[in-house]
Amino acid sequence: MTSSSAEPKSARAAWEREYDEVHAYTTSYRDELDRGVEFVLGYLAGAGIELEGPLLECACGRGRNAIPLADLGHAVVGLDHAVSALRRFDERAKRAGHRGRAVPVRHDLREAFPVRDEAVGAVFDITAIDNLVEAADREAYGREIARVLKPGGLAVVVTFDIDDGYYAPFLDRPDAAGTVVRDPHTGIRNKIFRAADLDELFVPVLELVAGNRFDFVDEAAQERWTRRFHLRLYRKPADASPQVPASSG
Ligand SMILES: C[S@@+](CC[C@H](N)C(=O)[O-])C[C@H]1O[C@@H](n2cnc3c(N)ncnc32)[C@H](O)[C@@H]1O
Repeated sequence: MTSSSAEPKSARAAWEREYDEVHAYTTSYRDELDRGVEFVLGYLAGAGIELEGPLLECACGRGRNAIPLADLGHAVVGLDHAVSALRRFDERAKRAGHRGRAVPVRHDLREAFPVRDEAVGAVFDITAIDNLVEAADREAYGREIARVLKPGGLAVVVTFDIDDGYYAPFLDRPDAAGTVVRDPHTGIRNKIFRAADLDELFVPVLELVAGNRFDFVDEAAQERWTRRFHLRLYRKPADASPQVPASSG
């Protein structure tokens, strides 16, 4: 990872800076599918579960997952707040002939998604939820995912485990409250998770289909880390009734 001591003022500014200059998130610059997405596609094929579109990718970045998913024939909308990443997504989508099929949309995931109720067959969150460091934002985000999924639709969540080799050491730092870590290289704060934290968030609105933890050795730059991720697959119950707003009394 590239090192820098500067502290960007806001999370979005930090991400713009990350994409334009810092390039610390080594995995996000690979052009192939995230390993977790590969596992999930293999699992779905083995379990005879069809991935139905259209697809929504939350925090799509440069389109590393969205573009290969569009290559498979799916229509994909990607949401991200970083213009610098969305520009690269758009260029790549056009080059791949996916104009109109892989569509980047600027959006802050702390807000309601710009998507109709029950409009998407699957939501991909590949290190997206870890950016929502406030519990209330994560809870609202979980409800948004449930809202936009069709009955029977899938949510694929790949995110950092509390024993992740890169982030875990930062938990000892005095400024790391709870399981939110601040990366000293980028200034970006991330929530890191236990499997139970994820289920606590999603299982009230979705059902768990499968979950696993996977490790891989990240050998980018000069250092090696054993990265540890959660992979959780949830489904909106096929008979889910529309959510009724709570009565104001
Ligand atoms: C580690 S990158 C993952 C990108 C992509 N999912 C991938 O696998 O390559 C995290 C992404 O989250 C985006 N992000 C962070 N906070 C966000 C927010 N509040 N709203 C929208 N996007 C956000 C960043 O801009 C960045 O593109």
